[in-house]
Amino acid sequence: MAAGVNRSESNRFEIRDYLDAQRKEVDAQLDTFLPPAETHPRIVHEAMRYSVFAGGKRVRPILAVATGEAVEGDREIILYLACALELIHTYSLIHDDLPAMDDDDYRRGNLTCHRKYGEGIAILAGNGLMTHAFRLLTEIPENGEMQKRKLAVLNRLCTAIGTEGGVIAGQVLDLTTQGKEYTAQDVEYIHQAKTGAFIQASVSCSAQLSGVDSGSLRRFETFGARIGLAFQIVDDVLDLTSTTADLGKTPGKDLAEEKATYPALFGISESRRMATQLVEEAILEIGFLGERGEKLAELARFISVRRF
Ligand code: IPE
Ligand code: IPE
Ligand code: MG
Ligand code: MG
Ligand code: MG
Repeated sequence: MAAGVNRSESNRFEIRDYLDAQRKEVDAQLDTFLPPAETHPRIVHEAMRYSVFAGGKRVRPILAVATGEAVEGDREIILYLACALELIHTYSLIHDDLPAMDDDDYRRGNLTCHRKYGEGIAILAGNGLMTHAFRLLTEIPENGEMQKRKLAVLNRLCTAIGTEGGVIAGQVLDLTTQGKEYTAQDVEYIHQAKTGAFIQASVSCSAQLSGVDSGSLRRFETFGARIGLAFQIVDDVLDLTSTTADLGKTPGKDLAEEKATYPALFGISESRRMATQLVEEAILEIGFLGERGEKLAELARFISVRRF
């Protein structure tokens, strides 16, 4: 994977080390949480593991972990959430790549799930990952307030990935806007919904599980919304500026498929500027955390300067 951070040398190493260390821990936990590949029916469990462990930056689980660290949440509990987030994210990628959607051949540097296992198994593996994620969330150990928090988080997460302003809403509009005229407002809605809402929930559900007060929760929600929108703007820019080797997926697809994107509407440099501004606004929002928010702020910066 290419280096994606171009701040000072010392910061670059710090955030990359942090990302590497957290990714390893999340991956180890995912391995224990997922059914073994040989579980009957084997093909679907193999396909689920194939897509989860093909690679991936683990941005959403690491955001959840960093949020938990910033508010002194229980790491063991946050790791359940972190893994559930990655399973849901991988489900959304498998379905996003299907011929009926973006029709992509490569993901995370490997063949897409449907190209490897066929469309039927890919659809079911996606469904399997989402279902397993929710099962995992219900298995979060309970003590004291946790039962109430768990239900609130389940509800929040379902909204973030659902049809009313969530991932599915965004994906629907992504498809129906293809090849059509659209406004800045349209593309902002699509990006906020298909990508922003889930990244926002990755942060806010972690804060909520950790029991933060409602004022802090609102600030985490705003932080998450800003970096979530920035994440998709940068994804659009990378589609135009990066390579298959760095991205692990085929670039240039958005233009070819006439997708609604920020660079198509505003150009590459203005889109980059907008993403940077969103990240700066986001970092201001978590200023109340002081030093404890530093890792989250670095993660936010990584989102705007990443190259993969
Ligand atoms: C890609 O997400 C899909 C979008 C929502 C833009 P990531 O860029 O986080 O993909 P992985 O998880 O690192 O493969
Ligand atoms: C995907 O957006 C958003 C999802 C909900 C998966 P894209 O279609 O731009 O993501 P990539 O570029 O294929 O990763
Ligand atoms: Mg798509
Ligand atoms: Mg796609
Ligand atoms: Mg994209």
